[in-house]
Amino acid sequence: MPQTWMITGANRGIGLALTIELLRRGDHVVAAARNPWGGALAELAAEHTGALTPLELDVTSDESVAAAKAALGKKPLDVLLNNAGVLGARGEESALKMDFAMWREVFEVNVYAPLRVAQAFLPNVEAGKGRKVATISSRMGSIGANPSGSLAYRSSKTAVNMTMVVFGNAVRERNIASLLFHPGWVRTDMGGGGADIAPQESAAGLIATIDASGMADTNSFRNWTGEAIAW
Ligand SMILES: NC(=O)c1ccc[n+]([C@@H]2O[C@H](COP(=O)([O-])OP(=O)(O)OC[C@H]3O[C@@H](n4cnc5c(N)ncnc54)[C@H](OP(=O)(O)O)[C@@H]3O)[C@@H](O)[C@H]2O)c1
Repeated sequence: MPQTWMITGANRGIGLALTIELLRRGDHVVAAARNPWGGALAELAAEHTGALTPLELDVTSDESVAAAKAALGKKPLDVLLNNAGVLGARGEESALKMDFAMWREVFEVNVYAPLRVAQAFLPNVEAGKGRKVATISSRMGSIGANPSGSLAYRSSKTAVNMTMVVFGNAVRERNIASLLFHPGWVRTDMGGGGADIAPQESAAGLIATIDASGMADTNSFRNWTGEAIAW
């Protein structure tokens, strides 16, 4: 029985690699993106008619989320995966000199949006069998790693960890698991060409780890191969 996953930011990077891998193994994907009609998603939609549902979604916009929710209707989702994220402009953020407008924009995408999307599509997750909401955070959000630099991005990932743990506690009694992941340092536009692993490797690890997860894992923060990360 194929599962249905909804992935935000499905048009490139890790989101696209997740979409390709899920389609390859026969699952269905609701591929949410600001432009889900062009590029790689258009080619995949032509190859996988019926298995890929393109969904226009700007995760920072209440109107866009409401329109996407209306377009999706009551379709059950087994896994809702918050993947869309931004790094923020480089060189304008430090503890000593901060571009506050940029910091706010990073929070819009990396912190507020995962909760906005989770709230909107919760009825779809409740209608599904998988009952998982997964969010791609980052090891850079770990306070335990005694971090410095990249303040906007790091603080956004720390904040989304807290946000989705509070969400996880709110949906625990509905038997829905909230899972947080570091995807590895991945060769995407964000990770850069010198990163450790290919998007395909990250995607395969994340899918296997999410497949094996259940309520016992709710509110865990793990890497793509399933090992726990210090908060
Ligand atoms: N790459 C790494 O090494 C790494 C490490 C740790 C964590 N992560 C996390 O992994 C996730 C995916 O990163 P990536 O490396 O694949 O990044 P990426 O290649 O830069 O892709 C980012 C994705 O997010 C989408 N996005 C950004 N703002 C959006 C918005 N307002 N509405 C909808 N979609 C939006 C982008 O869509 P557009 O094409 O429309 O801009 C794109 O699909 C992010 O949450 C990131 O923080 C990545």
